[in-house]
Amino acid sequence: MDITKIREKFKSLYGTTGDVYTSPGRINIIGEHTDYNGGFVLPGAIDKAMYCEIKPNGTDKVRAFALDLNESAEFGLEEADAPQQQWARYIFGVCREMAKRGKPVKGFDTVFAGDVPLGAGMSSSAALESCFGFALNEIYGLGFERFEIALIGQATEHNYVGVKCGIMDQFASCCGKEGNVMKLDCRSLEYEYVPFNPKGYRLVLINTCVTHNLAGGEYNKRRESCERVVAEIAKTHPEVKLLRDANMDMLQAVKGKVDPVDYMRAEFVVGEIQRLLDATKAMAKDDYETVGKLMYQTHEGLSKKYEVSCPELDFLNDQAKELGVSGSRVMGGGFGGCTINLVKEELYDNFVKTATEAYKKKFNIDPKVYDVVIKDGARKLA
Ligand code: GLA
Repeated sequence: MDITKIREKFKSLYGTTGDVYTSPGRINIIGEHTDYNGGFVLPGAIDKAMYCEIKPNGTDKVRAFALDLNESAEFGLEEADAPQQQWARYIFGVCREMAKRGKPVKGFDTVFAGDVPLGAGMSSSAALESCFGFALNEIYGLGFERFEIALIGQATEHNYVGVKCGIMDQFASCCGKEGNVMKLDCRSLEYEYVPFNPKGYRLVLINTCVTHNLAGGEYNKRRESCERVVAEIAKTHPEVKLLRDANMDMLQAVKGKVDPVDYMRAEFVVGEIQRLLDATKAMAKDDYETVGKLMYQTHEGLSKKYEVSCPELDFLNDQAKELGVSGSRVMGGGFGGCTINLVKEELYDNFVKTATEAYKKKFNIDPKVYDVVIKDGARKLA
């Protein structure tokens, strides 16, 4: 993204120049709704990001300008100073979470903008939190590690936005590495970079351009379902603290004791954690056909058991299947946003053309297509 507009606005609003930082959105190959269950995920940072110019202003107030919305906000840094606008709460939350960890920041001026599509399942909000987390950490010399900045972003979602998200998005945004996905163990936060270069295939996102999930309500309900099942299993297996610690036998043993919907949710999660492990094994053998099959299974589970898909996403998934795409599934939290598709080079053009035309015909919406480019995580630009 061209940052000239950010720089011009910053200069015109504050009469000076600051430092420019960026932090990206993410994709995830497989492992959905596993992070808050302590399982594994396989995300990578992408070439779409949030960008901010920032400079301490010597006061105890933050003056922020959201260029894409053409809106400004001014707020203090005490708990009672929480701003009204949602976008400003992300910035405020990051500052508050830093203060709660004994490292308060002071007032600053900022202008920010981005090219991560909103509501597309590519984690625009994590990109925003990570961008400010990383920038504030550097300009105030706070000494947080990247993974701690990710945790600060996650806590911001929990405490200032109301979404009880896992750690995947913020982690990918902070720790991403060009050309690599991360196999992240969300229980221990141990991770390894896995080069992602599926020869003969392309990875493409198709954005339904619909969002059905309002304020994270359904997302939080999924998490609660998982927690209720864990509580039941823990009665006989106290070592089980998260669904990651459970297996199918333990799950089946509580089948009659938990709500059938909760059971179905948990069944998806336990299966999904295993699917990720199977997919990484297949990747190590360059067996992307197997990876693709697992992606379809993930979609099936997210649609039928976890119920976070929607007709638009299911339609794109069916299209992919009919057009010979190796793997396809809803990506991210669900309820709209993108499908991620692993498609053989030679099928790519026909798939994109046919699927987008069919989608437009059926829903009267122009879907958006993004080729995935895996880039570095949070960094200073200028
Ligand atoms: C959202 C959340 C993540 C993760 C995904 C689903 O993106 O922010 O923590 O739970 O949904 O995998």
